[in-house]
Amino acid sequence: YVVSPPKSTNSRAKLILLGDAYVGKTSLILRYVHNTFSPHTLATVGSAYISKTLPQKPPLTLDIWDTAGQERFRGMNMGLYYRGSRGGVIVYDVTSRTSFEKAKVWLKELREAVGVPDNVGVDEPGYIRNGIVLALAGNKRDLVTGKSAGGIRGEDLKLDKGAEGVPKREVPEEEARQWSEEEGLLFFETSAKDDKDDGVKNLFEEVVFWINV
Ligand code: GTP
Ligand code: MG
Repeated sequence: YVVSPPKSTNSRAKLILLGDAYVGKTSLILRYVHNTFSPHTLATVGSAYISKTLPQKPPLTLDIWDTAGQERFRGMNMGLYYRGSRGGVIVYDVTSRTSFEKAKVWLKELREAVGVPDNVGVDEPGYIRNGIVLALAGNKRDLVTGKSAGGIRGEDLKLDKGAEGVPKREVPEEEARQWSEEEGLLFFETSAKDDKDDGVKNLFEEVVFWINV
């Protein structure tokens, strides 16, 4: 049977996550909505959403949509996925240059789908284009900060990259910030894994702030 998904209204906003497989889209949502993390998530198949009602006045319910990064698992009309979104978060992995390059492709596809012009003026205020707040998230920063920076504690990290070695930062924060500014995206580095890292909270709160504007 067909379940018709909630539409965005004044009290309900659809927020979508996009990005390559394995960058941590599902993990970001689980951290934000349930404050949990698992090192063994399953690859997402298809698309699904989780709702979270924010204790603001008036209340706002976010329907946060998650989709498969792997093309063969997407299997749905991405146009439907994008439709009606009030917020779009494009995710990459700071240890994967490829995932950052793909973020550019996701942004282009999203812009085409929601009709946001590509050539936004950098001097335009705010991050809302055609009614959608766009953000970029560089996830997994726990792998490259503090004691694990440069692979000093590589032994602990094998889970994340397998036997071939220690994850290294492949995307400088400044480069991503610069690109975000050029494109009019909010930008945060995040860690879904580290519960002391407030990047995930800051990311979602900032997107919600602009949705509320
Ligand atoms: P698809 O559903 O295939 O598109 O992947 P996804 O983007 O949803 O990635 P997912 O959340 O499943 O995470 C992939 C792997 O990265 C899992 O092993 C997670 O535990 C791990 N992971 C996710 N976020 C982080 C993070 O912030 N830090 C670390 N160290 N690992 C993370
Ligand atoms: Mg997933």
